[in-house]
Amino acid sequence: MGKPALEGASDTSLVYNLRAYVNDLTSWKPMRIRSYFAVAALSAFAVTPGVAQAPDPEAVEAGRAKSITCAACHGADGNSINPEWPSLAGQHADYTTKQIAAYKNGDRNNVLMAGMVLTLTDEDMANLGAFYEAQTPILRTAPPETVDQGERIYRGGIPEAGVPACAACHGPGGKGNPMADYPVIRGQHATYLVATLKEYAAGTRMSDKRQSQMMRNIASAMTEEQMRAVAGYMQGLR
Ligand code: HEC
Ligand code: HEC
Repeated sequence: MGKPALEGASDTSLVYNLRAYVNDLTSWKPMRIRSYFAVAALSAFAVTPGVAQAPDPEAVEAGRAKSITCAACHGADGNSINPEWPSLAGQHADYTTKQIAAYKNGDRNNVLMAGMVLTLTDEDMANLGAFYEAQTPILRTAPPETVDQGERIYRGGIPEAGVPACAACHGPGGKGNPMADYPVIRGQHATYLVATLKEYAAGTRMSDKRQSQMMRNIASAMTEEQMRAVAGYMQGLR
C-alpha cells in the first residue's frame, strides 16, 4: 500500500523504497489547516477504512442499467480512457452520489456533465454510486520525472504554504476513507486531478461545503507545478 507505479517500469522490476516521512503538525501555521488536520488525524485513527457496508446488489444492478448513458465517457465499467474524464470505478458510493448531486445543484459546473444529471432522481444517483463502487478500478502509473516532488507533497504536505499532507485524509494508498467522505484518488487520471484542483483553487468547485471548504483552501495554496507533481503521484498510487 502506498507504492506508486512508475511509467515505463514494470511492477516486478521496480523496487520502490517508501521513505519515512515526518508530519510536523506544529509547523502548519494557518489555524484552519491545522484544525482540518486534527479532524483528519482523528478520523484516520478512530475509523477503520473498509468497515463501510458492501453495496446492495439490487442498487448495483439498477445503477448498471442507468449507467448506459454515462459509459460513453466514463467507460462501461467506470474506467475512463480519456484523461480528461475521471474514472469512477471503485469510488465510494456516497462520494459519487454527492458529486452527481453537486452537478445538479450547481456546486460543480461542467458543460459535459450538466446535461447528464438534469433528470436524475435521488434514487438514480444513489444507484449509480453503488454501481460504480462495485466496479474494479484499473490502476495506472506515475510520470517518473515528478514522482519525488509528488511524493513529498502527498506524504508531507507543503509546510511553508500551510498545506497538509494529502495522505492524512486520502490515505497512504490513496483509497480515502468512506466513513469520513474522503474520496479515493489512487489511479485517477492526473489530467483530471489537476483540472479539478484548479477548479477548487478558483472557487468554481464548491462541493466541499460540507467540509468547511477544505479542498478550496488547500488547492488555493498550491502552485500549478505542485498540483501537477502530486497529481502524477496520485495517478500511480496503489
Ligand atoms: C460526454 C461525457 C460525459 C458523460 C456522458 C458523463 N460524464 Fe460524468 N464527467 C465528465 C467529465 C468531463 C467530468 C469532469 C468534470 C469536472 O471537471 O467537473 C465528469 C465528472 C463526473 C463525476 C465526478 C467524479 C469525481 O471524481 O468527482 C461523476 C460522479 C460523474 N461524472 C458521473 C457521471 C454519470 C453518473 C453519468 C451518466 C448519468 C455521467 N457522468 C456522464 C464527462 C461525462
Ligand atoms: C483534511 C482532509 C483532506 C486533506 C488533508 C486533503 N484532502 Fe483532498 N479531499 C478531501 C475531501 C473531503 C474531498 C471531497 C470534497 C468534495 O466533495 O468536493 C477531497 C477531494 C479531493 C480531490 C477531488 C477528487 C475527485 O475525484 O474529484 C482531489 C484531486 C484532492 N482532494 C486532492 C488533494 C491533494 C492533492 C491534497 C494534498 C495537497 C489533499 N487533497 C488533501 C479531504 C482532504
